[in-house]
Amino acid sequence: MDVDSGVLMSSGIESVFSLDGRTAVVTGAASGIGRAVAKTLAEAGAGVVLADVDLAGLEHVRNEIDSSGRSALCVEVDVSSRSEVEKLVAAALDRFGSVDVMANVAGIIRNASVIETTEEELDAVLAVNLKGVFFGCQAAARVMVEQGGGSIINVASAGMDMPAPGIVSYAMSKAAVAMLTRTLAVEVGGSNVRVNTVAPGFTDTSMTRRHFTDAGGKVDEDARDRLWNERASGAPLGRIGEPEDIAWAILYLASDAARFVTGQVLRPNGGVVMP
Ligand SMILES: NC(=O)c1ccc[n+]([C@@H]2O[C@H](COP(=O)([O-])OP(=O)(O)OC[C@H]3O[C@@H](n4cnc5c(N)ncnc54)[C@H](O)[C@@H]3O)[C@@H](O)[C@H]2O)c1
Repeated sequence: MDVDSGVLMSSGIESVFSLDGRTAVVTGAASGIGRAVAKTLAEAGAGVVLADVDLAGLEHVRNEIDSSGRSALCVEVDVSSRSEVEKLVAAALDRFGSVDVMANVAGIIRNASVIETTEEELDAVLAVNLKGVFFGCQAAARVMVEQGGGSIINVASAGMDMPAPGIVSYAMSKAAVAMLTRTLAVEVGGSNVRVNTVAPGFTDTSMTRRHFTDAGGKVDEDARDRLWNERASGAPLGRIGEPEDIAWAILYLASDAARFVTGQVLRPNGGVVMP
């Protein structure tokens, strides 16, 4: 990564945001925010490694990226497995020769109060949302320290700042991700590796649609519109998020435009949370 002073000033806005010649690994890339991140980073010039448990979904996203003339590699991976995440980063190195951006996007949610949450639900959420992000950070940071630079972006949630009933395991996992991010930022800053959190607000994806989607995938549009309107009316910007709103924030943090930004939480949330 080029971080010499003066280079950015003279090279123009487009090249500041360009990821030409870089490699980005994106977990959760088969759907929603991860899909938008993968497509956006590819559009910015990165060779992209798409990772998810959903291989069919990944292949669909790879076809979308391929048809825009960019290159992408699919790796089926369960991020809660340390060895699978290590293999993912090794596959990225093997194919592209570096890992410059690691976007830890994969996540799950379980709805239950503190009193009702089962041990299985707690383990499941922490395994993906916290351990999965930890393993992604660890594997990517090792490579980035060695190569002398990189940008890690961990996806948390507005839920990390805003206690709400019924999502305790999810909110806890996301708050912990912010501390993981800050700790790693302190540890690897001297190697020119930046580590930041993106905490999206309510965004239109399969995670938020699942409450009114039946087993056959049919969406109850009226129920969806009611919830969307309710969420939008509570937001200063008057709408809920689109996956691209989050992807642009991640592109910023991945790029040289954010070369002086580390250990921070960026909140693309329409103004819903202003801690
Ligand atoms: N949608 C929102 O409103 C919202 C708000 C804040 C934060 N987020 C966060 O954004 C991220 C993406 O969520 P989304 O809304 O796009 O949801 P989504 O369900 O559309 O996508 C999540 C992806 O993660 C993958 N995944 C789940 N478990 C995995 C595992 N063990 N290993 C690998 N991949 C796995 C899924 O297959 C899926 O493709 C999550 O971390 C989520 O918590 C979402």
